[in-house]
Amino acid sequence: MLAPLRGKGKMVMVPTMGALHEGHATLLRQARALAGSSGTVVASVFLNPVQFNDSNDLAAYPRTPEADMDTCRSCGVDVVFMPTPEVMYSGDRSITVEENHLSTVLCGASRPGHFAGVCLVVGKLFNLVQPTDAIFGKKDYQQLAILRRLVRDMDFPVTIHGAEIVRGEDGLALSSRNALLTPEHRAAAPCIRKYLLEARDAYESGAAAAAVCAELRAKLESIPGVQADYVELVDAETLHEVTDEKRLCLLAVAAWFGKVRLIDNTELSR
Ligand code: PAF
Repeated sequence: MLAPLRGKGKMVMVPTMGALHEGHATLLRQARALAGSSGTVVASVFLNPVQFNDSNDLAAYPRTPEADMDTCRSCGVDVVFMPTPEVMYSGDRSITVEENHLSTVLCGASRPGHFAGVCLVVGKLFNLVQPTDAIFGKKDYQQLAILRRLVRDMDFPVTIHGAEIVRGEDGLALSSRNALLTPEHRAAAPCIRKYLLEARDAYESGAAAAAVCAELRAKLESIPGVQADYVELVDAETLHEVTDEKRLCLLAVAAWFGKVRLIDNTELSR
């Protein structure tokens, strides 16, 4: 659909759900740099209802379309694709796109259907826009791994790039959900990063994975109103149990700060 806009250069896409913050702006600027002056940068802004398994979460998700347009403009985006749900989905849609290995663990275990919704919408966006490249952040590390698998197994001619996590000065990973935190939880949330780094150091100095995860969970849950969803140390590629400690690993956390679920992670090795 947007392919005719593509000249000889790359067409680099950054799919988003809007409520753009500095993390997204960083991805958009990276897309601009990757596309160069001869290429095209496309941002999609679409709050995908199909990937929300909790209607309250969807209702609470911030919507800032005008500010999103300004952000895209200031980051050098050429085209913003901002469809309505009706444009994206027929009422009687009946095709699903499911990844069945990487999606069963971590966030997939507590958000049934979420990654199928992500795969469906990203597959549709790739078909509609036909980018040469797409950039996704490593904060959603599992999503990035699953989308690499989607592209590989479904032969999408798109090169996927993973971008480093963008953090505030206090270390908290930028997320549209941060705006929903109470002041107390917003003040406490940078601890996630602090505890992740302490855990990474402990693991890289030889501590056992199970002990590292248990300690990180206990530290998080010592904050009033915080409940860990998962704290797991897994193989960074398979997202399953570590079978070879020499391979790159991932320490990933999801925790409820009151009603807001935050995620963060760090790669680690020893
Ligand atoms: O990471 C997101 O914002 C969304 O999951 C994505 C990739 C835009 C699909 O809706």
